[in-house]
Amino acid sequence: MNFSVLTIFPGMFDDFASHGIIRRAIESGCLRFGAVDIRDFAEGRHRVTDDRPYGGGSGMVMKPEPLAAAIKAAKDINPEGKTILMSPQGRRFDQSEAQALASFRDIVFVCGRYEGVDERVYENYIDDELSIGDYVLTGGELAAMVVMDAVIRLVPGVLGNENSSASDSFSDGLLEHAHYTRPDVFEGKSVPEVLLSGHHENIEDWRTESALIRTFLKRPDLMLERHFSEQEKQILQKWQRYLETLIGDNS
Ligand code: ADE
Repeated sequence: MNFSVLTIFPGMFDDFASHGIIRRAIESGCLRFGAVDIRDFAEGRHRVTDDRPYGGGSGMVMKPEPLAAAIKAAKDINPEGKTILMSPQGRRFDQSEAQALASFRDIVFVCGRYEGVDERVYENYIDDELSIGDYVLTGGELAAMVVMDAVIRLVPGVLGNENSSASDSFSDGLLEHAHYTRPDVFEGKSVPEVLLSGHHENIEDWRTESALIRTFLKRPDLMLERHFSEQEKQILQKWQRYLETLIGDNS
């Protein structure tokens, strides 16, 4: 997979590309990554990339010429590249967007700064616009890192073990089950016995129930959209019976 990021702060991506799974993905050839300085495409001694908005008002707008030239140069290298503008006005990024993007070979991320990009660049060069949430960052760089991080870990081979992203929270509409590691007892709390039993079927059942409980407690909105499996319905009915007993005992 090829990621190009167009930014006026390419240095922000140095750490991003040199740690952990992203670094490994680059070293193993799963990911080609480049942060391109939009300023390199700006004219004049000061290489200015912003200008005042027509019509007046506060803030600055990214100038069209350097940005368009940077996008064209990125497209020359990756002609099939999908060009995505990071902006708070974009469609909300989530796990299913990450899954969709993981099937692309080339993605060019455009990091907006200031008040945004000139509308003509948006109309002529941008294929898609993504936001990472309803809040305004000082620029699209952190948002592009969030999206790239979520996408690259879904590319086969990047996590080493392909199962590790298959069981992610959200990938099947539920949060992931609770996790434990050694020691067996930590600050007086024991690991659930079933996890020490070696009985794989019981462990899977426990994990299904743990995922349901966590989703119910932390993100009940996800339960509303769900078509429950037979096993999940049985677990919910078990809770229902338990709650009825509790209520009955108190009335
Ligand atoms: N740029 C500024 N705020 C942003 C956001 N919330 N998502 C994506 N890009 C942004």
